[in-house]
Amino acid sequence: MLKRTHTCGQLRLSDAGKKVILAGWAHSYRDHGNLVFIDLRDKEGLTQLVFNPVTQPNVHKLAKTVRCEWVIAARGMIQPRSEGMENPKLPTGQIEVSVQQLEILNPSKTPPFEIDSAEKTSEELRLTARYIDLRRPKMYQKLRVRHRVAKIVRDYFDRLGFLEIETPFLAKSTPEGARDFLVPSRLHENCFYALPQSPQLFKQILMVGGVDKYFQIVRCFRDEDPRADRQAEFTQVDVEMSFVDSNDVIGVHENLIAKIWKQILDVDVKAPMRRLSYKEAMADYGTDRPDLRFDMKLKEISDIAKKSSFNVFTSAVEKGALVKGLCAPGEKYSRSDIENTLTAFVADYGAKGLAWTKVKKQDEKLSLAGGTAKFFSPDLQKKIIERFEAKDGDMILLVADKEKNANKALTPLRCKLAKDLKLYDQNCFEFVWVVDFPLFEANEDEKRYDSLHHPFTAPTQEDLDKLETDPANVCSQAYDIVVNGCEIGGGSIRIHDPKVQQKLFDLLNISKKQARRQFGFFLKALEYGAPPHGGIAIGLDRLIMLLTGTDNIRDVIAFPKTQRGQCLLTDAPSEVDAGQLEELNLRTQRHLHAIEQKKDDQK
Ligand code: AMO
Ligand code: AMP
Repeated sequence: MLKRTHTCGQLRLSDAGKKVILAGWAHSYRDHGNLVFIDLRDKEGLTQLVFNPVTQPNVHKLAKTVRCEWVIAARGMIQPRSEGMENPKLPTGQIEVSVQQLEILNPSKTPPFEIDSAEKTSEELRLTARYIDLRRPKMYQKLRVRHRVAKIVRDYFDRLGFLEIETPFLAKSTPEGARDFLVPSRLHENCFYALPQSPQLFKQILMVGGVDKYFQIVRCFRDEDPRADRQAEFTQVDVEMSFVDSNDVIGVHENLIAKIWKQILDVDVKAPMRRLSYKEAMADYGTDRPDLRFDMKLKEISDIAKKSSFNVFTSAVEKGALVKGLCAPGEKYSRSDIENTLTAFVADYGAKGLAWTKVKKQDEKLSLAGGTAKFFSPDLQKKIIERFEAKDGDMILLVADKEKNANKALTPLRCKLAKDLKLYDQNCFEFVWVVDFPLFEANEDEKRYDSLHHPFTAPTQEDLDKLETDPANVCSQAYDIVVNGCEIGGGSIRIHDPKVQQKLFDLLNISKKQARRQFGFFLKALEYGAPPHGGIAIGLDRLIMLLTGTDNIRDVIAFPKTQRGQCLLTDAPSEVDAGQLEELNLRTQRHLHAIEQKKDDQK
């Protein structure tokens, strides 16, 4: 076998005259009557091979049999391309290899799609033949970024004295709020392991074990419906530290993020990063993951709207709802754009309507015109214009609803308008830490509290007393890191006092018995000198999405699952042999049915 001397992305004009051997896949094939050209591809790039019927008739003849995606090796001499044949788009576009020996290492069936048209191919087909899809240079680049980020992470934490420690996959359920994947135990009848939703309890126990500084690049498993930025199995950069406060954890991760952005994108990230309280984030952006690449803050105008003559607004405010909205450049949007397109857009997010008006300047004075303007007196109009700091030509869009519902519709509307109006630079990154989260979220259906993060998050020292008197207003020591509207990580300072932990379980309506059964081992550990500790987990897949500019999480995972949780390459999940189930003492509905059938047949 010809052994390669160079890769297909390496050779330049300065190499002219060199004898080389290249190996790879035939990317494209062109027969120009006398000369045959093959673009040879490997992970590094493309190099043009040229076959001459006069000087190398046998090699030329063999070259004519080669088809796309065949694996070949070629020995030859680097020569400058003839004039006018250079390809400035390719780094190797100035040269070609005049081939003297060709070896066909493996032919290929016609691939199910062409590498160059993969982006137009259905994702289903790409995932089914992932080995072809992975040959695309874009895919390789993404895997490479992922590898490099993992290396930066490991070097960074190593230098700071952290240990990477593996925690079990066959574990006990961890309450991160999603459904568990269960694994039946063969040796313990009727018992199951749960795949970890995160290593949360193990990393805290490592702190009790005196490890002090832990990190792990770790797979997590959550049986939830996958979305564009979610997978059932995904990877976290998981961290826990002892004797720290939230600023310590935040600082360590700001520096890590800055290092990654510098090394991968050559972008300088400013540290310290901006911080927003949960309250501010919800009021100004309607979400705890605000996109801060553009301003366009949401404003509440209930106080003004209740004095209008617009029944929708006055009756909403009377019922305790609010009127909230945003203001954006309005020239591009006609009445029908707003009443049809934008109203349908917010309706998808549950809004009952979208009231609108525009701002116009007349005699140097701004007033409202069109839509709901007629329901507002000149004085109220002035107040609205001031509240939104509106300018001539702006449009004001308003939703009247309960705060949660209004936010649910206005947040995506804000992002859509900014995108349509090109209000931000696609290549910029706006990082923000969202802090001062409430510890609990009221669960109105079940008349209890839920953790906003997870039940091991510590309340602030000042609010400890409120756990008894006013749980709804207890502030937690949690922090989320958000970039461009995407939550890339979250963590908290933890509870290290078993009494406070027990109090929290009480408020969450987790009975003593249930707590003992689910986390008894953990509560016990806290009783043996747990140090104050805290940590965070960064979603590695989401980080790579941002760094590689994709909004599809499957693009940054070599072997991802579909929205329906399937691996199309291997056809998982799939049925298993009856024997395997028997060993595990399990029966599926289908087996039970077959057993019934057999009994019936024997009657
Ligand atoms: P959390 O549940 O917030 O925290 O997860 C941390 C980060 O992991 C990423 N992430 C996901 N990425 C892809 N697919 C998913 N299904 C998915 N779910 C979460 C997000 C998220 O910000 N144990 C705590 C961390 C801690 O408190 O230290 C935890 O897992 O980017
Ligand atoms: P209707 O009275 O339902 O015909 O609505 C009159 C106008 O008010 C329409 O432009 C609706 O889109 C708008 N509207 C209705 N309900 C709301 C709401 N809850 N918030 C904002 N605008 C609304």
